[in-house]
Amino acid sequence: MSLRVAQSIAELRSLLAQARRAGKTIGLVPTMGSLHAGHGRLMELAREESDFVAVSIFVNPTQFNQQEDFHRYPREFEKDVAFCEALGVDCIFAPPVEEMYPRPGLTSVEVALISETLCGPFRPGHFRGVATVVAKLLHIVQPDFAYFGEKDSQQLAVIQRMVEDLNLPVTIRPVATVREPDGLAMSSRNRHLSAGERQAATVLYQALRAAERAIQAGERNAERVKQQAQQIFDKQPGARVEYFEIVNPADMQAVAEIQGAEIQNAVRVAGAIWIGSTRLIDNILVVPGER
Ligand code: PAJ
Repeated sequence: MSLRVAQSIAELRSLLAQARRAGKTIGLVPTMGSLHAGHGRLMELAREESDFVAVSIFVNPTQFNQQEDFHRYPREFEKDVAFCEALGVDCIFAPPVEEMYPRPGLTSVEVALISETLCGPFRPGHFRGVATVVAKLLHIVQPDFAYFGEKDSQQLAVIQRMVEDLNLPVTIRPVATVREPDGLAMSSRNRHLSAGERQAATVLYQALRAAERAIQAGERNAERVKQQAQQIFDKQPGARVEYFEIVNPADMQAVAEIQGAEIQNAVRVAGAIWIGSTRLIDNILVVPGER
């Protein structure tokens, strides 16, 4: 079956109903478009596991803190359609803003605690916007599986917790971060970087790896781990650190002392930096080493 594009919820639901009547399982990949290999990996996994793959492309205004960011967000629909087609996607849901928000919503989903650390304080209301639009998409599509990248680990934790707390009947599949050969996590924001900035941007992944090395070498104190990472940032004046933290992967709360060397003690090391006017985030999961 060839790729279908639905712009209305009614159109989408009729395509989904057909698939369901044929006994197909449904996989949803929510995106904001400007698709790259990171999104592509989510789609490939969806394609492997689900009989009918839906990709949503919707630049969600309620998760942007500034109007300007929302308007500056890249949009390249024709290219995205070709990208989805090449990966064997069955259906794109690309609603206009009025279809998702015909009037200002009075209802929103707030996932407390998890939303309050890391990016939370720097992007007020962002995770409320994300959780609310993802809740809407999950209700509109009612997929068996929905795919989210670990690149946005706090977003992933927020969504996983929302699905548990609200008993949403979907299985969330986390997908490992896709990186450029030099380690930079793929992101639609990378295109804003000049050649020099692009070079400087690798400092975030290098700092994450320095933190990982320290933890795997047996360092248990979060402050001392962060000092190791800071040494990397110090060598790159082109980057301004917004935050760099070691957190519990389930609730995103800061960890002061890392516990013993087992998988259940894994921590997430997460950072946000500014390179010029571009904000980049990244993170890795680290299993502590023996001391
Ligand atoms: P967007 O930034 O377009 O990302 C869509 C999905 O792709 C997210 O789950 C994100 O984590 C994943 N992704 C992005 N870059 C990735 C990479 N390098 N490796 C692996 N996965 C990657 O995240 C959003 O859109 C929005 O907040 C959304 C969930 C669609 C709600 O509006």
